[in-house]
Amino acid sequence: MKKIFAFILALVFAFNLHADDHEGMWLPMFVKRLNYADMQKHGLKLTPEELYSVNNSSLKDAIVMLDGGSCTAEIISDQGLMLTNHHCGYGEIQSHSSVEHDYLTDGFWAKNRSEELANPGKTASFLVRMDDVTERILGKVNDEMSEDERNAAISAEIKTIVGEATEGTYFNASVKDFFEGNEYYLFVYETYRDVRLVGAPPSSVGKYGGDTDNWMWPRHTGDFSIFRVYTGPDGKPADYSENNVPLKPKHHLPVAMDGLKNGDFTMIFGYPGSTDRYLTSYGVKQALDLEQPTIIKIRDLKLKIMKENMDKSDAVRIQYASKYAQVANYWKYYIGQSSGLKRLKVYDKKKAIENDFQKWANANAERKAKYGDALNMIEEAYKATDNTVVGNTYLLEAGLLGSDVVLFSFRFKRNMDAYFKAESDLEALEKEMKKQEGDELKASEEKKAALESRMEKIIAGVKASADDHFKNYNYATDKQLYAATLNMYYNNVPADQQPEFFRYVEKKFKGDFDKYTEKVYDKSFMVTREAFDEFLEDPKQKTMDKDLAIIAANDLINMWFGRGSAHADTDAKLEKGNRLFVAGLRKMNPDKKYYPNANSTMRVTYGVVGDYQAADAVSYNYYTTMEGVMQKEDPNNDEFIVPEKLSQLYEAKDYGQYADEDGTLHVCFISNNDITGGNSGSPVINGRGELVGLAFDGNWEAMSGDIAFEPELQRTISVDIRYVLFIVDKYAGATHLIDEMDLVWHKDDEPVTEETEATEEVEEASAQ
Ligand code: ARG
Repeated sequence: MKKIFAFILALVFAFNLHADDHEGMWLPMFVKRLNYADMQKHGLKLTPEELYSVNNSSLKDAIVMLDGGSCTAEIISDQGLMLTNHHCGYGEIQSHSSVEHDYLTDGFWAKNRSEELANPGKTASFLVRMDDVTERILGKVNDEMSEDERNAAISAEIKTIVGEATEGTYFNASVKDFFEGNEYYLFVYETYRDVRLVGAPPSSVGKYGGDTDNWMWPRHTGDFSIFRVYTGPDGKPADYSENNVPLKPKHHLPVAMDGLKNGDFTMIFGYPGSTDRYLTSYGVKQALDLEQPTIIKIRDLKLKIMKENMDKSDAVRIQYASKYAQVANYWKYYIGQSSGLKRLKVYDKKKAIENDFQKWANANAERKAKYGDALNMIEEAYKATDNTVVGNTYLLEAGLLGSDVVLFSFRFKRNMDAYFKAESDLEALEKEMKKQEGDELKASEEKKAALESRMEKIIAGVKASADDHFKNYNYATDKQLYAATLNMYYNNVPADQQPEFFRYVEKKFKGDFDKYTEKVYDKSFMVTREAFDEFLEDPKQKTMDKDLAIIAANDLINMWFGRGSAHADTDAKLEKGNRLFVAGLRKMNPDKKYYPNANSTMRVTYGVVGDYQAADAVSYNYYTTMEGVMQKEDPNNDEFIVPEKLSQLYEAKDYGQYADEDGTLHVCFISNNDITGGNSGSPVINGRGELVGLAFDGNWEAMSGDIAFEPELQRTISVDIRYVLFIVDKYAGATHLIDEMDLVWHKDDEPVTEETEATEEVEEASAQ
């Protein structure tokens, strides 16, 4: 009886671990106040100061914002070694690849420091500190101001605050708004600019499962790549130089070798990009009915064309690999999000919250005056944009991003406009100089030199961006994309929302975009490197302004910038409505802990490792193993090829110290942490502050999670750190990297806790 009682108790205890709601991306600065007790309850052993401290080194000092927030990374040695996802290093791996050195296919491993590859433009930022500046900023505004006046006052104060935070330092800083404009925080960063590629597994490990498995569990992907951060000899950020030295970090994460069990505590530090958890039912409806189907339809088309061309040529496959992956990632995301929003009835859930809110707001006169109109404002704003949202989606997805020539042309024109302006200033100046002498002439000569150097700089910049562009550009592929995306745009958007040059296509080509495209790719100097270089030998404003690709790009970009001013009052309404709605919600539930939407600032989410019930009769285990990698193998499908060497290690069960206690090699695991895009590459950290995994994805059943967290279903997918090390060591033989890290085991020093006592009792009971 007693034993059975213990058994039931243990079950209840276990159930509690899973049923606990781990929603929330919290600001590290407030963890002590808001979350610490709960984190401790779930297994955190560190002090709040060990997590986040401004004065002493703390966990936050090992966390890296990559490239201004596109991904997260972490420092794992005292020599600046940095770990992130394979899909976060994909652009770099791709850019160093060629048909001869195909690092995408074969992987890359620097055997020593001198082989590590530089990546100009790549940055690694560390958070120095964050400060609450809400009072300073909101002190500059009042309720009588229009939204425009309000925004201007806020921008001005932000500029002052950022200036103060960075003056006389090498720091950079930004102020971001939280809770839809109800709070403001300052973030100060130290940003390093010499970030070198150290190692990457082949895509058949790093991207195993490809787009088929993307956004899904169970997963078998070794989604990691390794970089190193370098500093100038003085330890400060510096551009790439041979004289640079590896970063001496304030903190680096030790690596836990014991693995995780169901219910174990996990926390994830990182830079989640954006969530929309306060989105209203009106926003959900617009996204579902109008925006998402449009994005999916356009991306279907782009992906099909890219894929066809990539399959035909290795060179094109390498050139388009990164672009393709980017388009495909959020194509599948929107498919999953659309179906999740419907299946999980997110619209209805939002409506219920809004009904409560309205009742609360209407309950007294003061509240009604302040919040009573918030939802109306939001509803009106969505109504007003319902008939332009599809057009704007086409403008972005099929117009500006439809083919590569468009953005390239727009950027080129913007730079060359500056060049031609300098050129005409120079001509005017030279005329003046003929009449000048003495000091006046001397001053003009200086001006002349400045203008000339400006022109030279512009040309050098334009050439560098052309190098980047043409490196990953294929004429036939781009031409096909140009014709198809613009044609789709033309046929799906009302004429009054189309760019100017569509009228020209109607007049000259009877609306035949194939014929029009023939002409563009025949005549424009933007579509081949040869023609482009020839133009630059003697650039003429006239030639540029009548180039068909430039005209199209210019129309599109003008529409893009014009679209805001057409809706200025609608935008203002939406902004104000949202601000009041969120402020009201927090007033309405004063005891509920609210967390702000993700906005590319450092957050921590904590939770536990845990399996889940994906659907009726479908339940998923919390980890995958090497067995599963082999089960998915399909030599005829490039997404499921298992490299020879990996099969051999599997056959020999040569897992070394990376095997789990149970003898298998764990590959990925899931936990109920709350993450989103931008968290990719984030460290999964155990209660002792040690690295146990690398977050890289979310699961299909909860794809609507960015709009509404699903406590029962939502999981973070991570690669087990032991699989990462196994690939580095056993597969790649890069043992020198393992030697740099601090591996830690606790198997033998585990203290006996109540929980394990309970488990022992259960085991005893079930043995009887
Ligand atoms: N869905 C993941 C994310 O957005 C990216 C996974 C990359 N892998 C892939 N097969 N495309 O973080």
